[in-house]
Amino acid sequence: MTNLPRLLLKWYNQHRRVLPWRDHPNSYAVWVSEIMLQQTRVDTVIPYFEKWMNLFPDVRALANASEQDVLNAWEGLGYYSRARNLHKAAKIVAEKFNGELPRDLIDLRSLPGIGRYTVGAIASMAFGMDEPTLDGNLRRVFSRLFDVSESADSPAGEKILWELAAQNLPKGQAGDYNQALMDLGASLCIPKNPRCLLCPLVEICESRKNGTQEARPMLKPKKAVPQYVHAAAVIIKSGRVLLAQRPPDGLLGGMWEFPNGRVNADPATELTKVINAAYSLKVTHRGLRQKKEALGVIQHAYTHFKVTVHVFRCDCDSIPKNKNLKWVKVTDLDDYPMGKIDRRIAQILQA
Ligand code: ADE
Repeated sequence: MTNLPRLLLKWYNQHRRVLPWRDHPNSYAVWVSEIMLQQTRVDTVIPYFEKWMNLFPDVRALANASEQDVLNAWEGLGYYSRARNLHKAAKIVAEKFNGELPRDLIDLRSLPGIGRYTVGAIASMAFGMDEPTLDGNLRRVFSRLFDVSESADSPAGEKILWELAAQNLPKGQAGDYNQALMDLGASLCIPKNPRCLLCPLVEICESRKNGTQEARPMLKPKKAVPQYVHAAAVIIKSGRVLLAQRPPDGLLGGMWEFPNGRVNADPATELTKVINAAYSLKVTHRGLRQKKEALGVIQHAYTHFKVTVHVFRCDCDSIPKNKNLKWVKVTDLDDYPMGKIDRRIAQILQA
């Protein structure tokens, strides 16, 4: 497809989106934006990116920040391991690479949170190197352009797509080429009802020719999403509420939550048992008889499961010595990074 880069770059010069990281010639800004943009839409990312660059304008500022401040700035973007890894990587870059992202691709790849996609994006966009990259948009665009029938989420499909991403890279313009494909995937070559009539590549698109655009990318069938039910305890004493900090790694690692646990039967009845099991906390539950004290029921969908949380006002006589539990003023709850569910509970308490 010798025409591909020419047609694409011509379109990009006219239609490129104005995005704050595109005006930043520095590699830190490209890095931050690329991490934020993983699994997250451009419109959602823009305000977070701008706030972030004010709070942590360079690698050293980020390296010197506390994890709490970093997670607070990320709150609402989801996939919090991205923030923790960015923070860890900033410390390494500050110490080992004199505060500058390394240009060596192996060094770059060795940093926490930087995989093959991010290496390609940073190398091409920030360093002007002739490197391919492959995100969700590019997978879809290449699957259609070359009518790839292999599953895009299989190792074989992945291999084919990376080869295609590398095949037509225009020398010296890989950054624009990669971003043009991202913009095309976000605006015209969209998942449903692609706007083929407006596409600059319509004449060279194999799946358009074969009428398979709706069937590309091929993906393996999705597994059913499990549904969980949790019970959470809101324990307030003298204007302070008890929070628990999650373990440093894993889902919502290092963030704060109201003590809670998964239940397999009626949440009001199971609450005491699961809270005791998880935190050695003996709570009594005001609403057990009256069923009046439920503060609310909150639903949230994560990528791989859904959860419904029943929230109860509880009392508690003694708190075990547990460094992950902390009494926090209700008015200070905003200082504690939380996931969407717990922030919603905090808002109910502050209302
Ligand atoms: N998605 C991921 N990186 C992007 C970029 N640099 N521009 C637009 N969308 C993107």
